[in-house]
Amino acid sequence: MSAEFVLGPKAVRAGYELRHLQSTPSTNSHALEFSIEALSRAGKHEGMAPGIWFVADRQTMGRGRQGRRWIWHEGNLAASLLLILPSTVRAPQILSFVAANALADAVEPFLGGTGEELRLKWPNDLLLSGGKLAGILLEARTMGNGCRAVALGFGLNVKGAPENISYPVASLAGFGCDADRHCLFRALGESWHENYCLWNDGHGTARVLSRWRNRAHGLGGAVRIEGPGKAVEGIFLDIDGDGHLILLQNDGQRTHVASGDVSFSDVDRPDGRFGKGER
Ligand code: BTN
Repeated sequence: MSAEFVLGPKAVRAGYELRHLQSTPSTNSHALEFSIEALSRAGKHEGMAPGIWFVADRQTMGRGRQGRRWIWHEGNLAASLLLILPSTVRAPQILSFVAANALADAVEPFLGGTGEELRLKWPNDLLLSGGKLAGILLEARTMGNGCRAVALGFGLNVKGAPENISYPVASLAGFGCDADRHCLFRALGESWHENYCLWNDGHGTARVLSRWRNRAHGLGGAVRIEGPGKAVEGIFLDIDGDGHLILLQNDGQRTHVASGDVSFSDVDRPDGRFGKGER
């Protein structure tokens, strides 16, 4: 077992860098601020690593999707990867599916003894036995030179999950898995590199989405999606080539949903009704 955060051989060979932070409000904010500073210093992004990992011992003001907070628990993993992408790169939102596949690949081998199965909840949560085990936050900024800085934040409940949350949560320790965040981070660095190569600047999108689909939770089942100002219900048919959720609405209409908070009747409410979709 490693007692510190390090990158594995594939990530190192590929040129990824690692910045270790003892404490930070948010590794995502830190990564994005770093990108702006780096650009203003260099005036360009050439010469920067393919990606820079920021990993913190402690995160004090973690941020989640839709402006929510991500609550810290001692021993959990908070890490962000900063990528600088040329404006020509297609559909960078698919990176959140790349990230979900990578995180699932990293965690799965450690689950062996627990007998539990990981599932992916659209668009990019990890579920363990129906509880939220991890969340991913993708944030992007267009930089002065037209490039895009993308921060992919990974929050993984290793040793504990927050209490008093309105939806089911899970942690690895809660299922008897004693993996620590240092091993998990190293595994994530490696699996990120593999999954990012598969994406291949957008040319491998179909393969990325097909890997995601294989672990998807709730395909073919009833789903409710809360979007800005309205909620829709129906059957979760599939995801399309942009990663949008294809919904067969209760009125028979088919819609492609780009974002929203999803709830499934089986995960959120054992009585078969929809629970709160807040994630
Ligand atoms: C979600 O709402 O599910 C996404 C949660 C993402 C949390 C991670 S922890 C590391 C990174 N830094 C942040 O402030 N948020 C992300």
